[in-house]
Amino acid sequence: MAEKRFTIIDDTTGKRYSYPVIESTRGPNGVDMRTFYRDSGHFSFDPGFTSTASCRSEITFIDGEKGELLYRGIPIEKLATEHNYLETCYLLLTGSLPTRDALVDFDFELRHRSFIHEGLKNLFDAFPQDAHPMSTLSSAVAALSSFYYEHLTINKEAEYQEMARRIIAKIPTIAAFSYRHSRGIPFIYPDIGRSFTENFLYMLRAYPGGKMHITKKGENTIRPIEIEALDTIFTLHADHEQNASTTTVRSVASTGAHPYVAISAGISALWGRAHGGANESVIEQLKMIGNVKNVDKFIAKAKDPNDPFRLMGFGHRVYKNFDPRAQILKKYQDSLKEELDLDSNLMQIASRIEEIALSDDYFIQRKLYPNIDFYSGVILTALGIPRTMFTPIFVIGRTVGWISQWIEFKKDRDQKIVRPRQIYVGP
Ligand code: CMC
Repeated sequence: MAEKRFTIIDDTTGKRYSYPVIESTRGPNGVDMRTFYRDSGHFSFDPGFTSTASCRSEITFIDGEKGELLYRGIPIEKLATEHNYLETCYLLLTGSLPTRDALVDFDFELRHRSFIHEGLKNLFDAFPQDAHPMSTLSSAVAALSSFYYEHLTINKEAEYQEMARRIIAKIPTIAAFSYRHSRGIPFIYPDIGRSFTENFLYMLRAYPGGKMHITKKGENTIRPIEIEALDTIFTLHADHEQNASTTTVRSVASTGAHPYVAISAGISALWGRAHGGANESVIEQLKMIGNVKNVDKFIAKAKDPNDPFRLMGFGHRVYKNFDPRAQILKKYQDSLKEELDLDSNLMQIASRIEEIALSDDYFIQRKLYPNIDFYSGVILTALGIPRTMFTPIFVIGRTVGWISQWIEFKKDRDQKIVRPRQIYVGP
């Protein structure tokens, strides 16, 4: 079959520049324009990379028009309902779902790698008492690179996997310690008798000595429904192809820096309110709105071109129909109503916003739909998770995606140091 090509014509000179088309297995094809500057003397201009593919990837596929999300070819709906987060991690890291034995080994390994070096604990003391857990988390992950410096030069599959499993296992511990430091309460060490997700809730909630509070009804304070809800949230956040934080991780990888500092940079990028920080802002905003009667006023503010106010949890660069993760969470939220103590006032305000936004021309024309962050906050609030931990929970879920993308980057012979050009317009 003849190679497909794509031609660009310079209207000023009439010169034609022809480039090979890179065929995708799903979604738009690309045009290999690496020699465009050399050929034409022009740069392409694409702030925010709205039309630029930075890599070939086999990990995650999104069809924003259809509202489709696949990890390694498997629909997110299937993973969120039929598989758990650890199976999803294994899938992202290796390309296939684990066998039963492989899952047992993977789980065992992560439990045993969940402890952090005792020396790293001292770092937390350097932070102010009320430090936001995201700042402590990103710093502690950067510091982790000095405890595992040998990962700087890895290039074999077994080494990649060890490095990846280490960070995936330790992130919940560092996140929980970051939270406990921010409250001035003693750290709770991981309990290897508990699963990945249960262990995280345990490290957030337990009392010194590993004791758990038992309610008057005799319930242990970590209920299976809570573990299931948080596990689903982790799965839904596990990867999202070339978003801002993943692109940050890949950019740092391109310089040859240590994988854990790349993850730390990803954490910092995620913190912004346009990205993962939105989940904390959604609940802040719902609380600020306060009452369903005030919703119209805030919708008007969001639509006012002279007001910087944005409806948090709405809009997405890629999803232009619906965010499948949001749909799964919305359905899930409805089914949790009976079992979890969901804040009915917050839910009333949220559903009124959703109702107006989905029928309002401003939102319809701009294809602004509720995204994952719009729903995750209400569930996390019902799990008793403090608001400052919402974005760290996004980090825990996303670490596997970042590290899988880091590994893919390292194996990709086409990749070079990330170094965009500019159109100089100064004096
Ligand atoms: N509320 C009101 N108007 C909005 C919103 C919003 N949340 N989002 C976009 N718009 C408007 C925007 O003002 C612009 O209008 P106009 O064309 O009149 O200038 C138009 O929609 C396009 O917006 P944009 O900023 O060019 O779109 P983008 O693709 O660059 O940004 C976004 C995507 C997610 C950053 C943006 O929609 C946003 O800021 N949303 C709120 C924050 C949020 O919920 N972020 C979480 C994203 S999902 C989780 C994740 O993956 O991180």
